[in-house]
Amino acid sequence: MSIQIPQLPKGTRDFYPEAQRIQNYIFDTWRNVAESFAYEEYEGPMFEHLELYTGKSGEEIVSQLYNFKDKGDREIALRPEMTPTLARLVIQKARELKKPFKWFSMPRLFRYEKAQKGRLREFFQLNMDIIGTESIYAEADLLASIATMLRKFGLKDGEFAIGVSSRKLLATYLEEIGAPNPALVYPVLDRRLKIGPEAFAKALAEAGLTEEQVKKLDDFMGCKSIEEVRNAVHSENAGAALKEIEDLFETLAAAGYGDCVNLDLSIVRGLAYYTGIVFEVFDKGKSMRAIAGGGRYDSLTEKLGGERIPGVGFGMGDVVLADLLAEHNLLPSPKQSVDFYIASFTNDMKKVFETAQTFRDAKLGNFSVSHPLAPMKMGKQLDQANYQGAKIVVYVDGSKAGEGEFEYKDMRTGEMFAGNPASIVERLKTEIKKPE
Ligand code: HAM
Repeated sequence: MSIQIPQLPKGTRDFYPEAQRIQNYIFDTWRNVAESFAYEEYEGPMFEHLELYTGKSGEEIVSQLYNFKDKGDREIALRPEMTPTLARLVIQKARELKKPFKWFSMPRLFRYEKAQKGRLREFFQLNMDIIGTESIYAEADLLASIATMLRKFGLKDGEFAIGVSSRKLLATYLEEIGAPNPALVYPVLDRRLKIGPEAFAKALAEAGLTEEQVKKLDDFMGCKSIEEVRNAVHSENAGAALKEIEDLFETLAAAGYGDCVNLDLSIVRGLAYYTGIVFEVFDKGKSMRAIAGGGRYDSLTEKLGGERIPGVGFGMGDVVLADLLAEHNLLPSPKQSVDFYIASFTNDMKKVFETAQTFRDAKLGNFSVSHPLAPMKMGKQLDQANYQGAKIVVYVDGSKAGEGEFEYKDMRTGEMFAGNPASIVERLKTEIKKPE
């Protein structure tokens, strides 16, 4: 019997070095921008007690859990999202943590989804959250970081859009039209554009809404401007919720992000814990799934048994983001690129190792240095240098080098030189465009 070759599990990815290089570019950009907005990094375990999710995150995500009993008979789940872990961390140190604070994390998450474009069973997600303030300027800070992040990746305003809505506003409207039980209605509203008008009306009827209420709700969710909404709602609470959105938009416009945000009341969000502003980020024309989504969750810590501590944040997945960047040709080259390759005409391996150390020395500037791992002809060494994307090949035993100097070749131009390590580093730092 032949042995079956092991298969990659559905919905997961291998990251060969070329893919990992792209992945690291995404991680580096996430981390740099989060840190530039003064968010601090945190982490948690990849699995949690199952009950952290059941009853708090919403039905959809619970139905997608990877869960199992461990050897101690405990119900465990691989984390499908980071927010409950964050809430747990906050509850545990509620007194010590100086609020408000801004944290970020880049967890690996697991959801048993139907694997398809933009959706995998294992993915990474940047999370940025602000804990301990109800101020709308926390939302402003988060949305500004999303826009900055997408610009940093090279996307232009207009190539992405952050749609903003408010559960508070929706709740007051539901109350105004006399609709029952918002908790039952939200998951249906979240699916409005996915399931089509008939299924939408049917699901709302099942949640107890009349035909007239469904019509009103549908019109309301189609409102495109604050003015339109103002004409549709009348209560004091709705006015306050609208004022919040207005403040948010004005602040973002003042900071230069006016063209990145728009009102979109069709956004409800699937997760159960949101209480205020909710938002989703899409590519222009919404041809892909959401790049990111988030919102305010002021009672999650309370639901988990702690005191009430307000929070707001978002998750940005790596999958849709990478698809979008690839579509716009904004991903860096996945090819390896080392600074120096140390070669030897006489296969003097001791000299090769010694010289490699010289060029790796932090005093010189933290460069990446490669060399042959076995004696071989110079042609082979140059092949390796080429393959590894070496910018400069240093010869340890070139005949034209003086005392303390090396002969070297700039692989970007093909020119030969001789010089001491400091002058070789100078040459490396010279920007040279490789001829096409
Ligand atoms: P979410 O909407 O479930 O929110 O996920 C946010 C983003 O993660 C999505 O817009 C998408 O880019 C990515 N994502 C979600 N599921 C998958 C998947 N199966 N495959 C690939 N990418 C996926 C949350 O997770 C909230 N906890 C975010 C949050 C943080 N809210 C407040 N703070």
